[in-house]
Amino acid sequence: MQGARILATGSAVPELCVNNFKISEMVETSDDWIVTRTGIKERRLLTGIDTSVVDLACLASIKALDKVSMNPLDIDLIILATSSPNDLFGSASQVQAQIGANKAVAFDLTAACSGFVLAMVTGAQFIQNGSYKNVLVIGADVLSKWTNWLDRSTCILFGDGAGAVIIQACSQDNNGILGFQLNTDGEKYDQLSIPYRNKAKNQTISICQGEFDFIQMNGKEVYKFAVSKVPLSIFKCLQSLRISIEDVSWLLLHQANERIIHAVAERLSIHSSKLISNLHKYGNTSAASIPLALDEALSNNKIKYNDLIVISGFGAGLTWGTVVIQWKC
Ligand code: ACO
Repeated sequence: MQGARILATGSAVPELCVNNFKISEMVETSDDWIVTRTGIKERRLLTGIDTSVVDLACLASIKALDKVSMNPLDIDLIILATSSPNDLFGSASQVQAQIGANKAVAFDLTAACSGFVLAMVTGAQFIQNGSYKNVLVIGADVLSKWTNWLDRSTCILFGDGAGAVIIQACSQDNNGILGFQLNTDGEKYDQLSIPYRNKAKNQTISICQGEFDFIQMNGKEVYKFAVSKVPLSIFKCLQSLRISIEDVSWLLLHQANERIIHAVAERLSIHSSKLISNLHKYGNTSAASIPLALDEALSNNKIKYNDLIVISGFGAGLTWGTVVIQWKC
């Protein structure tokens, strides 16, 4: 088996920054309520009629490529984890064309806030089994497009953004993607969804057509699910790799809610100084949240060579999972 390691990261967020005070002009809420319940202070939102998730995904990807002066033509595979594409048939091919990665095969992966973890594991498989050398994995979402801005229980949470990582083949000794643990509980799919609703029936051929609704979320259930299932997934993954909790350098969870992040860390007995988090600045950016926080932690020189990073995503599906990486750059 071939080794795989993260070679470079990049991220991008829209310019418009909307703080909690601005949100409280739209719905009955307050900065204090939002900060206390979630830890979020502000979020970035995509504006402009011609802009989409593709623009953010391309920007994040180009930044990652530039960091290692990689020619886009050297990329073999692009996986775009997104649940807010600008085309239901997929947006990854647009990213491929716009960044000039014309030799890469490109596809979307839809798994909401777990999307990046699933995409990274998928990308690593193609490298570790010897099929590909360079894989670009992007987590990007613009959930502002699917948020009901009159629903205070959801509109306070989400922000837009993108993060990208380049995973490259390496020797077994340098392997940095150590293992993973993935789960889905489809019985609870309706606890968090953007459902398609049929509206009108075509009288001639009896088919129904409709449109997608806004984000629907049972916040309490999602909260309970996250704090109970995520620690178990991390335990299982670490156990399978024979890594003890004390050896973990960093815990990087999907940035949904500060209370969830701290509750999971507490259950694992991981000290808060080992948490990577930038939720207060960006809110829940869905598939983008993990690579966005990873890129920031690297820019701040937090992560050192050989550090062990436990990464977990959780969200709609319901789907959750862990990937353990060792920093090898
Ligand atoms: N401002 C003020 N009051 C509010 C707001 C608000 N923005 N939202 C709800 N309230 C009120 C409610 O109406 C309720 O009032 P009531 O007691 O009079 O009925 C009260 O505050 C408590 O509401 P809860 O929903 O019980 O609040 P809770 O403490 O559960 O916090 C929250 C809500 C922050 C959404 C929390 O449940 C949570 O974070 N859940 C997890 C959500 C999550 O992680 N989602 C993303 C998953 S990732 C993905 O896949 C997209």
